[in-house]
Amino acid sequence: MFSLSFIASTISSKLNPVLHPDFIFNRTRTGKRFHQLCNYVHEFADDIIEARRNILETDHEETEYEYTDFLDIVLMAQDENGVGLTDKEIRAEVDTFLFAGHDTTSSAISWAIYTLGQYPEIQEQIYGEVMQVVGTKNVEPDHLSKLKYMLFFIKEVMRMYSIVPVIGRSLKEPLTIDGVTLPAGALIEINIHTMNHNPAVWSDHEDFRPDRFSESEPERDPFSFIPFSAGTRNCIGQNFALNELKVVLSRLVQAFRIELDTSHEVVPQPKLVMRPKNGIKVFLRSR
Ligand code: HEM
Repeated sequence: MFSLSFIASTISSKLNPVLHPDFIFNRTRTGKRFHQLCNYVHEFADDIIEARRNILETDHEETEYEYTDFLDIVLMAQDENGVGLTDKEIRAEVDTFLFAGHDTTSSAISWAIYTLGQYPEIQEQIYGEVMQVVGTKNVEPDHLSKLKYMLFFIKEVMRMYSIVPVIGRSLKEPLTIDGVTLPAGALIEINIHTMNHNPAVWSDHEDFRPDRFSESEPERDPFSFIPFSAGTRNCIGQNFALNELKVVLSRLVQAFRIELDTSHEVVPQPKLVMRPKNGIKVFLRSR
């Protein structure tokens, strides 16, 4: 229903100066589709907000509802004058979470599955760790920090297939890097994918080696690997995403051995997130 390639084509249409004025863009096929899809997403977010509002207005004792989460906080937030967020502001927050948390994680899971298929010996090491830490049962919160090799593996997946390949910033003040000064107001792009394949930082950067991230490796500048960005606007969902990946991959290798479909060529394509151009095909064999 809603694809990032569509957003990308919308963005490239918007790069066409003729389509800059909304009254022209809105009349094009892409413009109409853009608004149709935006409405779909907004209705989806509105339904989530509406359902939660109803729960919050009901007596908590009478519901199954246990935790205060992000949406509750946004719904209940008030400034010093007791004024809360408008419906539009709440929806903007929900939209951000939905999209920041969905395509990124699904891209990371897809590349992890592909890599497990590519490197059967690494897959066996992951399987061995899962059997040792979790066994054949469900993954419990206590297990997560014990899945150490899996964390190295996930980081190496995110290095190899930079899930968010590029991030952008608008400079509030001039910035000097290596003697070159960029003026305030400049739009800059930080190319995470290039950073992840910088041979000055990563030896044999095309080799897939989860052990790069083990404690025994020489220390690296913490800003040399920023899959979740860094600074005040870094990813809010970082820990959640890593845990989600650990749970999904554990459950997958518990049940299946993953084999690549070698007849299918997988081509990474950096869009808003790193996507496999023609998808990824694997065989799942029951263990
Ligand atoms: C593998 C999964 C993920 C990756 C690689 C990832 C990556 C990133 C990156 C690079 C940014 C910063 C963008 C920038 O600096 O311009 C970001 C921001 C953000 N992420 Fe994630 N993310 C992931 C999963 C999640 C999840 C699961 C959630 C929520 C449940 C989430 C919520 C957010 C939010 C709300 C922001 C915006 C923060 C802000 O602007 O202050 N992300 N993410």
